[in-house]
Amino acid sequence: MRDRIKNLLDKIEQVNIENAEQAEQFRLEFLSKKGELNNLFADFKNVLNEDKKEIGALINQLKEKGQAKYENLKEAFASNNAEEENKDDYTKPGYPYQLGALHPLMITRQSIISIFERIGFTVASGPEIEDDWHNFSALNFPENHPARDMQDTFFINEKFALRTHTSSVQVRLMENGKPPFRSLMPGRVYRNEAISARAHCFFHQVEGLYIDKNVSFADMKQTLLYFSKEMFGEQTKIRLRPSYFPFTEPSAEMDVSCFICNAKGCNVCKYSGWVEIMGCGMVDPAVLQNCGIDANQYSGFAFGMGIERIAMLKYRVNDLRLFSENDVRFLKQFQAADE
Ligand code: PHE
Repeated sequence: MRDRIKNLLDKIEQVNIENAEQAEQFRLEFLSKKGELNNLFADFKNVLNEDKKEIGALINQLKEKGQAKYENLKEAFASNNAEEENKDDYTKPGYPYQLGALHPLMITRQSIISIFERIGFTVASGPEIEDDWHNFSALNFPENHPARDMQDTFFINEKFALRTHTSSVQVRLMENGKPPFRSLMPGRVYRNEAISARAHCFFHQVEGLYIDKNVSFADMKQTLLYFSKEMFGEQTKIRLRPSYFPFTEPSAEMDVSCFICNAKGCNVCKYSGWVEIMGCGMVDPAVLQNCGIDANQYSGFAFGMGIERIAMLKYRVNDLRLFSENDVRFLKQFQAADE
């Protein structure tokens, strides 16, 4: 009996198996009901009682070895087969690709631009590192204006700073071209502010400039009303409140009727029915002159809004930081939003 077991063990260890058929052969020969192992078990009853413990253990070991070998072979041939099968099967469905989504700020920027493009505005761009002239002086900021203060502006050196608004692009546009101008200036701007849910050291703006003969405040109102209705819905109303910017006179802040509660009052509009979305005004004649445009012949208006602010209102995002943290769980939610 011991010899039979030893023989079988050698056979199992030495047998050379190269494909699934041979593996099946191996199973039939050793492991099946009529296989050698079962024969051993059948003969076990004839083993002397005092040897049963030892022989029983040997047979069990043999059985485990045989089964382990067969399982390994089976797996190896099965995965080979799967690869073989997959290789040239062009009828199998493709691997699903994860579709990306536009960033919510990009979606918002694009909707703002396309609304103004429909009434003839073009897009202009300029550098993010600006000199004092384009960011401040040409825009009529007095020498000691607080906006030039270290608190608001990231200065690079005596001459250069990161632009604090895209109005600098308006200056470049006017300096380098001839009126009429009808352009938008989208872009990233920088301000030296502590980062919180409502403020960041950089954000994005879309500013606009319209310069021609006989442009009036009424033209500005109508343009901005058109924009607001397109952006927030046909029922939207606008309201202009007097304000101050060095480069516009008169200047105003523009509110739109709250599109979340239909101006009935909610926590977004702080129960006022209005939400502020942009600054605007008639370009100060001094700015036109600074840029080489005859202020006696030409007039115009300018406006500027924060893209984050609009996106936060539109998508009800309550923390500005989400826009720049690249958390895919946040960004994924806008998959359906890009039209
Ligand atoms: N440049 C202003 C800002 O950054 C916005 C603005 C642009 C206001 C044009 C009036 C006219 O806040």
